[in-house]
Amino acid sequence: MTDAKKILFLAAAAALIAGSSLAAEPSALTQPVATPAVTAFTQPPLPYAPAALAPFISAEVLQYHYASHQKGALDTLNKLVTGKSEAGRALEEIIKTASPGPLFNAAAQVWNHTFYWNSLKPNGGGEPSGALAEAIKRDFGSYAQFREQFAKAATSLFGSGWAWLVLENGKLKIVQTSNADNPMCHGQTALLVLDVWEHAYYIDYRNGRAKYVDAAIDHLINWDFASANLARSVKQP
Ligand SMILES: [Fe+2]
Repeated sequence: MTDAKKILFLAAAAALIAGSSLAAEPSALTQPVATPAVTAFTQPPLPYAPAALAPFISAEVLQYHYASHQKGALDTLNKLVTGKSEAGRALEEIIKTASPGPLFNAAAQVWNHTFYWNSLKPNGGGEPSGALAEAIKRDFGSYAQFREQFAKAATSLFGSGWAWLVLENGKLKIVQTSNADNPMCHGQTALLVLDVWEHAYYIDYRNGRAKYVDAAIDHLINWDFASANLARSVKQP
């Protein structure tokens, strides 16, 4: 990647991080786009090309995941909020207040997937650095122990769901959520996520979820994104 492309990529990532993940700041995703006649949530672009995560996640999987699964949740969300008070609310507010059911599922699946796209990057993975590395050592003992526990959480989750690195009461934790569930519903702040629904890996790895998890941890995790989320969480508890 040329320096100019790197700068553009980092600028785009920074914009997404600033808006889409944790804080109350509005974003293209969390802030409804209002027109005189239509109010709708929108789907931000992928932060990289669909083929950028290959060979660990193929372009076919990523494109279908983005254009079918997340887009499907987005379309459902917009149908459900049309003409209702939720149409003017931030996505996070809907997730935190909706009763279990279709509205919660659609809103949370839109949010979770945007967070997942940003939790990965080309040439990612390996060990983090800085404050996040220190926090991992403090709360897990070592990166190796974190890695083992995160991989176990991602591979052992029964059925469909997500494996998260979260901050809770100032401490890092690894948690699993099923279906569309999200840490913000449990007083936790998400720092990083791995989608372990079968649609995230089945075409590339068949039923070998552990291979997908290992590849993502070692080659794709976006520690810059997780570090930025940690820094913002500490600043705005
Ligand atoms: Fe997914």
